[in-house]
Amino acid sequence: MSAKAWHIGVIGGSGLTEGVGLDNAQQIAVDSPFGAPSGPVTQGTINGVKFTFLARHGAGHVIPPDAINYRANIDVMKRCGVTDLVSLSAIGSLREEFAPGHFITVDQLIDRTQGREGSFFGTGMVAHVSLADPTCPRLRELLALSAHQCGAVVHPRGCYIAIQGPQFSTRAESVMYRQWGADVIGMTAMPEARLAREAELPYAILGMVTDYDAWREEEEGVVASEVFATMKANGDMAKAALRHLADLLPPERPASPIDTVLDHAFATAPAKRD
Ligand code: ADE
Repeated sequence: MSAKAWHIGVIGGSGLTEGVGLDNAQQIAVDSPFGAPSGPVTQGTINGVKFTFLARHGAGHVIPPDAINYRANIDVMKRCGVTDLVSLSAIGSLREEFAPGHFITVDQLIDRTQGREGSFFGTGMVAHVSLADPTCPRLRELLALSAHQCGAVVHPRGCYIAIQGPQFSTRAESVMYRQWGADVIGMTAMPEARLAREAELPYAILGMVTDYDAWREEEEGVVASEVFATMKANGDMAKAALRHLADLLPPERPASPIDTVLDHAFATAPAKRD
């Protein structure tokens, strides 16, 4: 396996619909056979590294979590030649120590979403990829280091539970998720992480805590306006972390085992690689 250049894809969530400030930025509409992605991508560079950005909820934040075409979004990233994919996401906290304003590089996921298209495969072409470790340790560590060096409080690991939304959780659900071992909560990492793995894209989540979910009895529960206010206030940190990531990447990208996961995944005889 030969080394290739890094090309970082970024899917930006709530509070990051305006992009991340790429140099020589150009907007491009990319078609996908899986339907319409959330919008055009913006391509550009940071410190000579190529980046492709997509706003997960569309321009103006108009697409709710359950209506996002996750397959088209991941497909578009792959078509653009992205080598590694970063998700920037607002998340709620299920732990006292993960305070609003803190960042977490998520390592594990629990999926409580329903009815979302969660695979590129199906009848006629059966594949089972491993999802035991759904995020890429190399990208996760680089992101955590980058955010830390930019001055953020970063928790290097955490289990993210993906809920269907668009409503926030009830108090009983929030307490139950804590008992299940989840540390943070959001609405979009699944099926995004599943599809990224099927697309052989190393994927990492830089989650920014915007609120303590509903488990804290003395608190009012989650209020959307507060979530957006915290996200806005801390969005610049997420952007800085992403820009600094470009400084931390080694000049050449060593191959990742995730680049070729489909080699071990097919039940049906797969098409040959080029
Ligand atoms: N995104 C930000 N905060 C959240 C919460 N408490 N629950 C689900 N998604 C969120």
